[in-house]
Amino acid sequence: MLRTKIKITLLFISLLFLFCSENPKSVKDVMDKTVTHIYQTMSKDEIKKLTNDDVMKLFSDDELEVLATRYWMFDVNVPVLVSVMRETGQKIVPFWLTKYGFTKTDMIVKNELNTFEVWQKEFPAGHIGLGINGFDGYGRHYFVSVQPVNSNDKLIMSNFYPANQFVGKMDVGAFTYHDWDELVLTEVPESLKGGKLLTTIRGRAREAHLLGAFRDTPFPSSSKPDQIMLTWGKDPKTTQSIQWRTNTSIKQGIVKYCLEGDEGNFKEVKAEIKVMEDRLLQNDRYINRYTAVIDNLKPGTKYNYKVGDPKTNNWSATAEFITAPESSEPFSFVYFGDTHKSTEFGELINAAYNRFPEVAFYSIGGDLVSTGLHRDDWDQLFEYSANVIKNRPLMSVLGNHDDQNGLGAWMYADLFDLPKNGKADLPKEYLYSFEYSNALFIMLAATLPISEQTSWLEEQLKNSSAKWKFAMFHFPPYTYDDDYPVIRKEWGDLFDKYHVDMVFSGHVHYYMRSKPIYAQKPVKNPADGTIYVISIAVSNRERQMKKEDFVQVRFAGEYLYQKIDIDGNELKYNAYNSDGKVLDSFKIKK
Ligand SMILES: [Fe+2]
Ligand SMILES: [Fe+2]
Repeated sequence: MLRTKIKITLLFISLLFLFCSENPKSVKDVMDKTVTHIYQTMSKDEIKKLTNDDVMKLFSDDELEVLATRYWMFDVNVPVLVSVMRETGQKIVPFWLTKYGFTKTDMIVKNELNTFEVWQKEFPAGHIGLGINGFDGYGRHYFVSVQPVNSNDKLIMSNFYPANQFVGKMDVGAFTYHDWDELVLTEVPESLKGGKLLTTIRGRAREAHLLGAFRDTPFPSSSKPDQIMLTWGKDPKTTQSIQWRTNTSIKQGIVKYCLEGDEGNFKEVKAEIKVMEDRLLQNDRYINRYTAVIDNLKPGTKYNYKVGDPKTNNWSATAEFITAPESSEPFSFVYFGDTHKSTEFGELINAAYNRFPEVAFYSIGGDLVSTGLHRDDWDQLFEYSANVIKNRPLMSVLGNHDDQNGLGAWMYADLFDLPKNGKADLPKEYLYSFEYSNALFIMLAATLPISEQTSWLEEQLKNSSAKWKFAMFHFPPYTYDDDYPVIRKEWGDLFDKYHVDMVFSGHVHYYMRSKPIYAQKPVKNPADGTIYVISIAVSNRERQMKKEDFVQVRFAGEYLYQKIDIDGNELKYNAYNSDGKVLDSFKIKK
């Protein structure tokens, strides 16, 4: 059931964006135009002080009609009663409810946290259009139920916009938000029970958000390339992906690269440009994001490169990348738990890079930022790590904060070029795997359905002859304060079967290293089980923690990074804080 719901959400999101961008009289068109008008005619101070009454005056009558009737649409074959469940905590009632003839009833619907008032209106058979959730970005989005006026009629609903509408049954126990399907209805009036329930995602509240909605990035783009970042979208031995940004005044992007020190012999690769928009980012609404992929490189080789635009002669300083070795060689990588675009993460990654320049690449276990669809969050993450990630690849997994309120993690996918070898029917780059030297890295998407990734995970493990096997994903399978039995069962069994050496997670904002675990029980030797690590790269509070028999080392109140050194049959693990103090350490010998 959960699987179906998430699948439908993903379809819903992709079609939502498709439709929004193509429909000439859409809510998106109206909002895009209005935001542009606001930028052209108001000061930042005026924008900040905008009230609901001010906002209503910005739209023409035609535009208000689009906002009132083209946000959520469907057709019905018989006369119906439409009920709109509006959360009572939302201070301003969306304007279209009264203006378009809905009546507030005395009925109340409740879920475990919220109370909704019920607004109703009868419609004849045919097309029905409903309006926006308001200009306030209110997170408890309204939801809808539809019943035939004549109880003998068989109601058929069709032609939904957004497409792929999930239709549930209005009753106690039903969920209303795909991005929070544990939150279910606890109180439903008898007269509404059995109606067709139209669910939504909380993220839709952003579609008309204007009040208190505008943001500034502390690091706006310019005509000079910045946010230069290495990843591996393809084979780390022979390719290198390089990404960066400029403002939209620049029309092309080139990478010049050469063998280390051979700057007379540059080769060039052209980058693809994607214009990225964050409509409410008032000082940097549009940027160019560049992705260049260099192929046919020599394994185990250091190169120099710079990025820029020959026309304006804006070039970055020279940086470096190193391809993965052809065969097994000693190497190191660094793992961070949640980073949340923090300056603490900046401290850590710079300390790690300065002290251990030999580290081949860096990984973050999700929650890279705090609001995944705010580009200013990513600007901070890239700024604080700029000196490192232009010289060493960043290979990360997604956390719940990178994927926002059911709207997906499309900004992450646009910003990072990661391997597209994940499961075919799941979003690209959310899960992937790669090999480096004698190690396999399996990067899973804990925010997507767990069981849908299991067969893919098994294929990666089965088809690899790597000596060392690691998995990374955001939600920790072993922790006292959040329980993930599905992960322990679905993935844990495979970690046992194929002997995955270590699993890295985050999310709970403290540090933990487990004893080796097999069949969900602690065992003596790393040869017999998997070691599970949880880490955190942002300041966190000390706390009382429940005793658990699988814990080897655990503490809160420190932010830290883990360096893992692999040399043939030996693994050395050290956890450091930014001062270089060792907070945890162990070895595995195969
Ligand atoms: Fe987090
Ligand atoms: Fe998290």
